[in-house]
Amino acid sequence: MHNDRQSKHGKVALVTGAGRGLGLAFAERLAAEGATVIAADKTPAPMLVAELLARGASAAEFYAADVSDERQVKLLTEAILEKFGRCDIIVNNAGISPMKAFSELSIQDWRQVMSVNVESMFLVCHALIPAMIGHKYGRIVNIASNTLGLVINGFTHYIASKGAVVGFTRGLASEVGIHGITANCIAPGLTRTPHTNAAFPDGDAFQHFAQAQAIKRPELPEDLVGAMSFLTSDDSAFITGQTLVVDGGLLRSL
Ligand SMILES: NC(=O)c1ccc[n+]([C@@H]2O[C@H](COP(=O)([O-])OP(=O)(O)OC[C@H]3O[C@@H](n4cnc5c(N)ncnc54)[C@H](O)[C@@H]3O)[C@@H](O)[C@H]2O)c1
Repeated sequence: MHNDRQSKHGKVALVTGAGRGLGLAFAERLAAEGATVIAADKTPAPMLVAELLARGASAAEFYAADVSDERQVKLLTEAILEKFGRCDIIVNNAGISPMKAFSELSIQDWRQVMSVNVESMFLVCHALIPAMIGHKYGRIVNIASNTLGLVINGFTHYIASKGAVVGFTRGLASEVGIHGITANCIAPGLTRTPHTNAAFPDGDAFQHFAQAQAIKRPELPEDLVGAMSFLTSDDSAFITGQTLVVDGGLLRSL
């Protein structure tokens, strides 16, 4: 049960990378709050629409789309606007984090991470914000990372991309605030998802970070959905351009 200001009834919400991991958790929460949920992922997720409807979504759609591809984003966003006439909430979650030492990094590696993690947000926002302006309402949440404030090897390209996500969000917030649109980031810590479970199969990394955090347990996708719910709600109407760190109290930032 959610209060009225958290309710997403009547809202159309797009979540990118919604097939698994954090994106799936965000889509499930928006569904439980009654939104019409548009799940986009480059990997097909055949059971997802039925699951989102079962959780309470007013309607649900899945679109197979690589959100780093300009043409595919054009098709995705045109389909959303044609079918629903609006998009009130965007959760730009799709991202990749391939670890590689800086000395091994090619320009192709760099561009791929920038393309998926940053350019996708530009493409999706650029295509959908005109409709938000038309309705004088929008909530945009971009997924950054607490690695921006940590000492971690093999992540130069990834950390640079998440820094760009924060900068993009700040710049965007300044331009769209006049239209009733907010744009904020959530910066998760290391969270158990299909990707990180595969990247750290022995689990040591989760324990390492858990011990360094104020809250000494590994982060789970459900630890992030409350922040997303708030930043996509009416209650957060006066908060924009911000980055909310949700990592069990590891990184302290202003
Ligand atoms: N899991 C963590 O520890 C952690 C920490 C900080 C930030 N993040 C960020 O959270 C987001 C989700 O991470 P996750 O751990 O859930 O990842 P994940 O790999 O488990 O899931 C990502 C989903 O995004 C999809 N995807 C990837 N590239 C795509 C593209 N180009 N177009 C459309 N869909 C695409 C994948 O198919 C997958 O379903 C990423 O932006 C990541 O950088 C994750």
